[in-house]
Amino acid sequence: MMALRFEVLGRFNRARAARLTLPHFTSETPLFMPVGTQGTIKGLTTKQLEEIGCQIILGNTYHLALRPTSELIDELGGLHKFMNWPRALLTDSGGFQMVSLLHLADITEEGVTFQSPVDGKPMLLTPEESIQIQNRIGADIIMALDDVVKTTITGPRIEEAMHRTLRWIDRCIAAHKRPREQNLFGIVQGGLDPVLRDLCVQGLVERNLPGYAIGGLAGGEDKDSFWRVVAQCTASLPETKPRYVMGVGYPLDIVVCSALGADMYDCVYPTRTARFGTALVPGGVLRLKHQSMSADTRPIDSTCECMVCKKYTRAYLHCLVTKDAMGSQLLSYHNLYYMMQLSRNLHSSIIQGTFPEFVCNFLRNMFPKGD
Ligand code: GUN
Ligand code: ZN
Repeated sequence: MMALRFEVLGRFNRARAARLTLPHFTSETPLFMPVGTQGTIKGLTTKQLEEIGCQIILGNTYHLALRPTSELIDELGGLHKFMNWPRALLTDSGGFQMVSLLHLADITEEGVTFQSPVDGKPMLLTPEESIQIQNRIGADIIMALDDVVKTTITGPRIEEAMHRTLRWIDRCIAAHKRPREQNLFGIVQGGLDPVLRDLCVQGLVERNLPGYAIGGLAGGEDKDSFWRVVAQCTASLPETKPRYVMGVGYPLDIVVCSALGADMYDCVYPTRTARFGTALVPGGVLRLKHQSMSADTRPIDSTCECMVCKKYTRAYLHCLVTKDAMGSQLLSYHNLYYMMQLSRNLHSSIIQGTFPEFVCNFLRNMFPKGD
């Protein structure tokens, strides 16, 4: 049973452009999905997120479960209604956030144990509980609880995590009470080991899930290893299902992973870097804090069609940044617009058969010839 439709509209070698129909919205892939925290993307209204062209946004299960709690969100009609977001939502299972945020988290066969940041009491997040929480929150896509280990460690722990992720997927599937309204995605683990990754892909594909994520990446491994894992996984995941690379990423990674056949991405980078005064531009990044911006009357990016680039100068943003919340809001707006424009350009160039030209242009802008 699936609550999605995934239609591949065009291909260029391994890259695909698709239409992903979810209960609350029909999106186009390749697609970047911004990450929210307490039911918001910091500083932006849902109206602005629609204006930017955001199609799916992430709600943070871990934060929402602590406050206002999933029971209350359920009582108030689900997260879409609670945060006034009419389009699609995705929630992660929460375990990854605990492991990466609270270094006190510990993983056992039962689940992820951690100390409550509210009262310090020990708590346990099981696969069943993660799915129950995500069922209450009501996102269009929910993620399985997985055992994530850093790709930079080696040894038997990597293998254990992969097998545990497969055991937990069955507990997640059994606990999922709303398969007609919510899509449960499985997550491929296995570190940098091609044999483990392959076993995990095969195990998940046997479960015939509505979509698959590639997890455990962008955690400090080198680009060659990262891209190689994506290439290997996309090569054996089903053609007819969406593929989501979790926690990625930088514009260049999105271009490369899309060329390798991935469809969906999420990352805090565009909004986090905005709060540090950095704007994403075709040449890489523009640091608005830099003294050279103080009297620069140009927009962030003269080729960008976003509201911020139409209305504000670098000099004005330089003045706001770090001094007023409006600075990071305007930069977040531009950065998300940049990511959505990148998504739209990937989609349309794959459809139009101009993907190679798009990639060449992207790389030429990002890495200009030194002079
Ligand atoms: N976010 C980034 N990477 C991962 C991962 O491997 N698993 C989960 N659940 N979330 C992630
Ligand atoms: Zn802009």
